[in-house]
Amino acid sequence: MKIICTKDYEDLSRKAAELIAEQILLKPDSVLGLATGGTPLGIYRCLTQLYRNDQIDFSSVTTLNLDEYVGMAPDNPGSYAYFMEQNLFSHVNISPERCHIPSGLAKSADAECRRYDQLISVLGGIDLQLLGLGNNGHIGFNEPSDTFTAATHCVALSESTRSANARFFSSLEEVPTQAITMGMNGIMNAKQILLCVSETSKSEILREVLFGPVTPSVPGSVLQYHPNLTVIADADACSCLPSEYRY
Ligand code: PGA
Repeated sequence: MKIICTKDYEDLSRKAAELIAEQILLKPDSVLGLATGGTPLGIYRCLTQLYRNDQIDFSSVTTLNLDEYVGMAPDNPGSYAYFMEQNLFSHVNISPERCHIPSGLAKSADAECRRYDQLISVLGGIDLQLLGLGNNGHIGFNEPSDTFTAATHCVALSESTRSANARFFSSLEEVPTQAITMGMNGIMNAKQILLCVSETSKSEILREVLFGPVTPSVPGSVLQYHPNLTVIADADACSCLPSEYRY
């Protein structure tokens, strides 16, 4: 595990975008696992800038997003498909057929989960998986539980996750109650993982994830077993880590 503590969110975003750009330079047909939420926004802005500066080419890149809300159409502004379009895909030369997100509208969520795992496998797995961290330690929408779930699955969102995500909706009631999320297999089989964490509110959960016991009640703790994990966290998020990792 490599921990990079940055001065602030801007630095975090730049550093993460540079590592993603490096991955694409080394392997132009990379399969990137992508995340949504507040944390990746700066990273997507930096990637867009690198593309505009001709420093990165997405034409052969494939993407697999971690999750989607059940019941949400891709043109619904609350959906993760819409988020990705607005914040990254529409700004770079990525081919829409190569951008994959679980469908929130699938008639059978179970069949959609199986289809997504097959897709991950057909694509040869993920080269680099970008992750944010939930306030409750979730990665993707793998919520705290008694067991880790390996496969892509349908999950009931915890109240803490719904409250945290209410800022993307006009009210808490509008936040969906269920989502489809990539499971731990898809994530942990990625060749490289980039966990990005910002803000003081995540500092204690980040310490638990990286240095606490590995337990499904803190889903991100499973990342301690990943052979190629890079954590990029800003000074605020690092404030509860052992002193050698603080800014
Ligand atoms: P955030 O969410 O980036 O909006 O804080 C992270 C997550 O829930 O995975």
